[in-house]
Amino acid sequence: MSVTAKATDLAISGLTKAFGTSLAVDGLTLRIAAGELVALLGPSGCGKTTTLRMIAGLIEPTAGDVLIGGFRVTHVPVHRRNIGMLFQGSALFDSMTVEQNIMFPLDMFTTDDFSTKLKRVNEVLERVNMKDVNKKFPAEISGGMKKRVGIARAIVLNPKYLFCDEPNSGLDPLTSILIDKLIKEITTEYNITTVVNTHDMNSVMETGDHIIYMYDGLKEWEGSNKEIIFSKNKKLNDFIFASEFLQDAKDMRMLEMKGKIDNNRNMDELLK
Ligand SMILES: Nc1ncnc2c1ncn2[C@@H]1O[C@H](COP(=O)(O)OP(=O)(O)O)[C@@H](O)[C@H]1O
Ligand SMILES: [Mg+2]
Repeated sequence: MSVTAKATDLAISGLTKAFGTSLAVDGLTLRIAAGELVALLGPSGCGKTTTLRMIAGLIEPTAGDVLIGGFRVTHVPVHRRNIGMLFQGSALFDSMTVEQNIMFPLDMFTTDDFSTKLKRVNEVLERVNMKDVNKKFPAEISGGMKKRVGIARAIVLNPKYLFCDEPNSGLDPLTSILIDKLIKEITTEYNITTVVNTHDMNSVMETGDHIIYMYDGLKEWEGSNKEIIFSKNKKLNDFIFASEFLQDAKDMRMLEMKGKIDNNRNMDELLK
């Protein structure tokens, strides 16, 4: 067997969700390999959150199937402890400390004693590069730190799947990139299968080996961050390269990749 061949771990077919007469998700079909990080990209209202919630088994599809590791999550009780979820806005419990927030899934799903749970809480806190924050409340930490705590809580049970809904919303560009990198590192390190919802183009350029672009409940385009540069899909281009500046950057990158201009050009020389 080739080393690059991977089992398809998440198979979604004809996934549909209607709210009243409108279709939030309209027959989405996609395959995600085990251990892969997928970016679900698209404008606000295109159906990303609804899709993620159906994949996580939090809401019932109107039609279609989600198969996770061979199990149909829409028809059998999902193995909740295998799924870690980072909700948009982190969704921490305001009245609980950081430590209590992260311990919550352990309280729910394990019978471990307090010191075992605390050890695990401290392990994941360290993994997301946070320390000395155990006794702080969510209101006392920054937006970026809240995301880290949200990630720590999502991975505390060692899940096989990690679903992140807009992990960058409300963060500055630098903090966003750090959070993206952290999610990518964790995916690889623990061999998790990860889906990240985003409308942030920096984010997909940084982490997107596998990007699914959604528009109006449909899969409009699928490919990698390298292919996105060459894509002729108008809806995708209008969204990703919305500004003239980014359109120019796309053109330059295409010329570089086609070998028309030197990748290592000396800008100081050229601008003399
Ligand atoms: N619980 C709901 N009831 C009614 N309409 C909803 C509900 N959730 C989402 N929608 C609608 O479904 C569409 C997709 O929403 P959503 O999945 O939240 O998109 P995104 O996450 O890409 O912004 C939107 O038009 C939204 O208004
Ligand atoms: Mg959303």
